[in-house]
Amino acid sequence: MLLHPAAFAALLAAVPSFIAPVAATSSPKRGLVFTPNKTTRADDTIWVKKPTSLTWYYNYKPTPDSTYDGIPQSEFEFVPMMWGAPSTAGDTSFLTTVKGLIKDKGINITNVLSFNEPDGPFVYGGSSMEPSAAAQIWVNNMIPLQDMGVRVGLPACTGGSTGLPWLQNFLSECSKLVSTDDEKKNCTYDFVTIHWYGNFEGLASHMGQYSAAFPNKTMWITEYNLNNQDLKTTQSFYNMSAEYFDRLDFVERYSLFGAFRSDVSNVGPNGAMLSAGGNLTDIGAWYLGRQATGVLPTQGSGFRSVVPQASMVVLSAAFAVAMFL
Ligand SMILES: *[C@@H]1O[C@H](CO)[C@@H](O)[C@H](O)[C@H]1NC(C)=O
Ligand SMILES: *[C@@H]1O[C@H](CO)[C@@H](O)[C@H](O)[C@H]1NC(C)=O
Ligand SMILES: *[C@@H]1O[C@H](CO)[C@@H](O)[C@H](O)[C@H]1NC(C)=O
Ligand SMILES: *[C@@H]1O[C@H](CO)[C@@H](O)[C@H](O)[C@H]1NC(C)=O
Ligand SMILES: *[C@@H]1O[C@H](CO)[C@@H](O)[C@H](O)[C@H]1NC(C)=O
Ligand SMILES: *[C@@H]1O[C@H](CO)[C@@H](O)[C@H](O)[C@H]1NC(C)=O
Repeated sequence: MLLHPAAFAALLAAVPSFIAPVAATSSPKRGLVFTPNKTTRADDTIWVKKPTSLTWYYNYKPTPDSTYDGIPQSEFEFVPMMWGAPSTAGDTSFLTTVKGLIKDKGINITNVLSFNEPDGPFVYGGSSMEPSAAAQIWVNNMIPLQDMGVRVGLPACTGGSTGLPWLQNFLSECSKLVSTDDEKKNCTYDFVTIHWYGNFEGLASHMGQYSAAFPNKTMWITEYNLNNQDLKTTQSFYNMSAEYFDRLDFVERYSLFGAFRSDVSNVGPNGAMLSAGGNLTDIGAWYLGRQATGVLPTQGSGFRSVVPQASMVVLSAAFAVAMFL
């Protein structure tokens, strides 16, 4: 069942702020945003050790990671992504690669993700694409995959206000490419993909805007977190959002941006699923469908809390050197 926007708004209003939500321990919707770090490759197997509730992953690339080669697609589904623009608009190497996975390697690819934050600049991890260029690339690479029965998600824009206008431009440019004077057509897509960094109310409102703009489409939340907050606030956000995603039928899948160690986290230490020492934090354990570990994000070697002292030493050393010049 898909929720009508009005029903969605009512549901939103009904979220009781005084009851702490209890997230399901396990969910078939949950996946891994795979962001490996070459200095800690052993961490990569944490996500698939049983018991785990993660059923799918993406790595911002068209090809799967060899770490998960032994796991069948039916257990841990790899979802290829076309991150951004290829070097030439006519390039169809994404299409060729995904076809190769299906036909030569026998990997049952059923879903594909398109562009990552095309409305955002490269410096913030966006793929900075013009809607018209993106539409041509979509026509060349995505439509043939759809013709093969592969489901394709709309590009995942930033959580900012540029997202919806970008998508509307993109869809209108795409229509121009597939229409003729005699026959008007639209590009089709199978689900809407969103990103969100911020609090729960903002997330729910953002989802409401996308549900209203793209009625009757299911949604994947492929990056989300509440960044740079204290641990209790972050855990409360995690609980509320997981419970919300699990409850809403139109949410098809979600993946928390946090599968890394707290000391290299760019969403703040408390949003990370691994401690500085590489152990699952409470959020990490909950996300995998397990009991809280009680491991603090800062726990373990290498945490930044030692850095201020170290940098103070460096700073005072630099100061001392400067004094002598
Ligand atoms: C990978 O880990 C190393 C060691 O902790 C760190 O210096 C580096 O910034 C990390 N890389 C990324 C991309 O997070
Ligand atoms: C491929 O995956 C889809 C979706 O999970 C499933 O319905 C289909 O049966 C699978 N096909 C094969 C050949 O395993
Ligand atoms: C294409 O999409 C537009 C905007 O959503 C809609 O108004 C129009 O009816 C659609 N056209 C076709 C042929 O489906
Ligand atoms: C959404 O689905 C409902 C029920 O299937 C249908 O009545 C309605 O026309 C659909 N709306 C759009 C915009 O496709
Ligand atoms: C989050 O949910 C867990 C149970 O899954 C609970 O133990 C914990 O207290 C909750 N935390 C907050 C801050 O709501
Ligand atoms: C963290 O992980 C290491 C290695 O897996 C293990 O030896 C250690 O007991 C764990 N620490 C905690 C607090 O779980």
